[in-house]
Amino acid sequence: MAYHGHKLLEEYIPTNVKGRTIIEIGSVREKLSGQNSTGFFMDLCVKKDMNLVSVDMDPKCTENVREEAKNHDNPRFLAITMRGEDYLAQIHNFDYLYLDGFDYDHKQHSQVRKDRYKEVLECELTNENCWKSHLDMVKAVADKGRPYSLICIDDVLTDDHCFSEFKGKGETAIPYLLANGWEEIERKYQAVIFKKIGPGEDTPPPQHF
Ligand SMILES: C[S@@+](CC[C@H](N)C(=O)[O-])C[C@H]1O[C@@H](n2cnc3c(N)ncnc32)[C@H](O)[C@@H]1O
Repeated sequence: MAYHGHKLLEEYIPTNVKGRTIIEIGSVREKLSGQNSTGFFMDLCVKKDMNLVSVDMDPKCTENVREEAKNHDNPRFLAITMRGEDYLAQIHNFDYLYLDGFDYDHKQHSQVRKDRYKEVLECELTNENCWKSHLDMVKAVADKGRPYSLICIDDVLTDDHCFSEFKGKGETAIPYLLANGWEEIERKYQAVIFKKIGPGEDTPPPQHF
């Protein structure tokens, strides 16, 4: 199976994380092999006693989150219909953030999908809009991380070594993070993961959902 970035984020979340929260921007749209980050994170959150906040601009995807929850054992989750940029602008801090929102233009999107962007977001599915969305999101959170926080951006690589010719979702967001207090830990599964520069924290204060 070809994994996506949700697997990379999971690999860096330590064991003692009870009460922490994963925020994903870009909820499950279709259950494709290696995708469905929402189901993957719900499962992880149940196992680790964490919370999931799943944000998508499309109400159909928000409904998918609620449907997905039925497949898990009492997950603690919020399903929010909102632009990721707007949601992240209003939070004060975060634990783990997974960015898999506005699609980049890999030239294989269906007309239905492109039309959905026009209907729901009132804009075109273009690389420039994808890059702006992800840049605005990292700008909104770059100074809101806790010492142990992680940010994972999906769909940035074609394989484990090379950036995509289409640049993917990190084209402008990655340089911004690197210039604003974050360092890259690993690139894998078409994704990149970052941690805050500075000492980490072994025993975080518990959080209440
Ligand atoms: C690649 S899909 C997410 C896939 C999902 N993470 C998974 O693994 O199944 C991208 C999603 O981002 C949503 N999206 C696009 N622009 C957005 C924005 N500005 N804010 C929030 N969601 C957005 C789309 O509606 C779509 O559902």
